[in-house]
Amino acid sequence: MDSYDIFTYSAVSNGLHAIAAVIWVGGMFFAHMALRPSVAVLEPPQRLALWAGVFPRFFRWVWVSIVVLFATGLGTVFIDFGGFGGTPVHVHLMLTVSLVMLAVYATIYFGPFRAFMARVAARDWPAAAEAQAVIRKLVATNLVLGLLTVAIGAAGRFWG
Ligand code: HEM
Repeated sequence: MDSYDIFTYSAVSNGLHAIAAVIWVGGMFFAHMALRPSVAVLEPPQRLALWAGVFPRFFRWVWVSIVVLFATGLGTVFIDFGGFGGTPVHVHLMLTVSLVMLAVYATIYFGPFRAFMARVAARDWPAAAEAQAVIRKLVATNLVLGLLTVAIGAAGRFWG
């Protein structure tokens, strides 16, 4: 190994892949497990206005993370593994679960998230709370799938 090996495609790509995974999955963990129970003490207008500040900021980063995860992941499949034929089974599994996560995320973004923002802008708190409850359930789903994907990505290469 020479001193420039840290800048090889695989090193940079795997590093970016892990950072993007941390941003998306770690962000969901924090939102669901720490922020959500903590803001439950607030009155609906304050609580929902707070989420209206949190969601657009976080969701922007989720889009960036998705682009990075798919670009670096597929790049590794073709550059390091020479295509799907030479790709280990855990990567196929990771891609499959990621596609489900992407579908769930797109459902959140283009459905209840948009409805939520419009209802908060209209100060329709009961309707906004309804949309937020749907977002919460879908984020919980993606959090479980995301933790699973991280475990698959990190542990898969050691499977017999
Ligand atoms: C929610 C989405 C995803 C998460 C959380 C995730 C997470 C991870 C983690 C934690 C690793 C191990 C650390 C690393 O190499 O950076 C990894 C490796 C990898 N991921 Fe993903 N990943 C996701 C999506 C994808 C997608 C869409 C692909 C495309 C095929 C992909 C392909 C790969 C590959 C090829 C590796 C290297 C595997 C190895 O060397 O054994 N990942 N992933």
